[in-house]
Amino acid sequence: MSRKPTLTSTSGAPYPTNQTSKTAGGRGPLLVEDHQLFEKLAHQNRERIPERVVHAKGWGLQGHFTVTKDITKYTCAKMFSEVGKTTEVLSRWSTVAGERGAADAERDVRGFSLKFYTEEGNWDMVGNNTPIFFVRDAYKFPDFIRTQKRHPKTNMRSPEAMFDFWAGQPESVHQVTILMSDRGIPKSPAHMNGYGSHTFSMWNAAGERHWVKFHFRTHQGHETLSDAEAQEIIGRTRESYQEELWHMIEEGRPPKWTMYIQVMPEADAAKTDFNPFDLTKVWPHDDFPLIEVGELVMDTIPENYFQMVENAAYNVNNVVPGIGFSPDKMLQARIFSYADAHRYRIGTHYEALPPNAPKNANVQHYHKDGSMRFFTNDFGNPNAYYEPNQYDGPVADESVQEPPMQLDAEAVAARFLQEDSDIDYVQPRKLYLEVLDDAHRDRLHKNMAGGMAPVSESVKERWLAVLKCVHPDYEAGVRRALETGDHGEPALPVTDQTPVEAAE
Ligand code: NDP
Ligand code: HEM
Repeated sequence: MSRKPTLTSTSGAPYPTNQTSKTAGGRGPLLVEDHQLFEKLAHQNRERIPERVVHAKGWGLQGHFTVTKDITKYTCAKMFSEVGKTTEVLSRWSTVAGERGAADAERDVRGFSLKFYTEEGNWDMVGNNTPIFFVRDAYKFPDFIRTQKRHPKTNMRSPEAMFDFWAGQPESVHQVTILMSDRGIPKSPAHMNGYGSHTFSMWNAAGERHWVKFHFRTHQGHETLSDAEAQEIIGRTRESYQEELWHMIEEGRPPKWTMYIQVMPEADAAKTDFNPFDLTKVWPHDDFPLIEVGELVMDTIPENYFQMVENAAYNVNNVVPGIGFSPDKMLQARIFSYADAHRYRIGTHYEALPPNAPKNANVQHYHKDGSMRFFTNDFGNPNAYYEPNQYDGPVADESVQEPPMQLDAEAVAARFLQEDSDIDYVQPRKLYLEVLDDAHRDRLHKNMAGGMAPVSESVKERWLAVLKCVHPDYEAGVRRALETGDHGEPALPVTDQTPVEAAE
């Protein structure tokens, strides 16, 4: 007698076979009563959920975060309440543009998402490996993403569209410079930093608010790939990141990061010479030094990738008392976008799935019923299904109310056009002149030229004009590489090499 468990249908009935169809005679045809076969085929048809509209290709690990320094003067969030306190974390890193089957080593920004399972609910840090972004108004996000995806006719990626868009959005030059620098292709998620990018806020037990930026600095060091190295790797394997993470965990070398915050007192936001809520700007380290907070160690491969990583739903609006938002208008739009995306991609009750369900906080809400309501629907008393009620249904806790936020006294509601001005070029100029050295600048020129080589002359000239505003040497270096052809092929395997000339 076999000791293996019995195979069953989804209703639990034992299966007599999982190999042979029920037919009229040995040569067929099939009998419609073979419901077990139809169940098997029907399930296969439903194995896929829509891929994320952006950040579709990803890699995830489980691990934990430990507080190493006291930041209770900035936040009352309980996960930071004492040094040594540990919180479970689920990470997901991703590329932005490629589809779910895209190669890992493409030149792209990387997503850097962390879900902290705190006792006050989940805190999601949904950031990138860059401290800034391409645009600062959410109206521009869907158009920007469209330029990163496939052309509707050629069905290939289109450098023409990418550079056309960037040339019309000069504030993007800061992020494009990082994208075309060495850091544009990290060797693996372990070899890059993570940034919350937006300005967020923290408030303490006394109700005092500070603006904050989140930083996660890699312990593995920055390791990056050139376009040529990336192409060689992609030729061998599309899964270089998954392989690297797998080997690191299997060999007992879990990747680690130190978390830091930059802090600005609430009233000081009016004093900086740049808008501290503009997502295309960093806060200079000299003015806002990094303050250590804790250590992140990601040491476990999830048992089932689909269950824990594909089903993971990161939400910018998942904050906990003591951590809040800022007036950053891009951040505000993201607060709408993520939960909406998850309800479409995963379903109404996506928060009840294993990667998303709070592990260390009780979930007690009055949302009822709906598709896939597979978990309890009341609080032990069927009469407590509305609020307020005379029973012992859950009630709100006023003590977690965020302190009031002082907005500009002059504030009027309007659609403010943020004019492009030299302030948009100050930080990329500093990056170009002071952070990068000669050799890195040379690689930047060549990477940029490689990416631009296929685009039309009109788009090239418009983008070169933007680079000139950053610094004349930047423009000259890229132009020289374009004219001499002294550049490689970009590590974007699917590109439309045929520029469509812009209509005059
Ligand atoms: P700092 O000299 O104190 O900081 C320079 C920063 O640049 C470091 O964080 C460094 O990261 C990072 N860096 C190095 N090479 C690259 C690269 N190829 N792409 C992106 N970042 C890189 O000066 P400031 O704080 O005044 O910033 C100067 C410029 O550096 C900024 O305008 C911005 O472009 C860039 N930067 C600034 C950050 C910030 O939060 N202030 C964060 C990241 C970049 P590391 O220390 O890990 O080597
Ligand atoms: C994923 C929207 C800007 C980081 C997504 C998804 C949407 C989205 C719809 C897919 C979610 C899913 O289906 O699971 C937007 C909008 C933005 C914006 C509307 C601007 C208005 C940003 C910025 C960052 C960022 C500025 C980083 C600082 C991410 C990451 C993911 C993601 C990391 C993948 C999350 C995961 O690992 O599952 N975004 N996004 N996004 N976004 Fe954004």
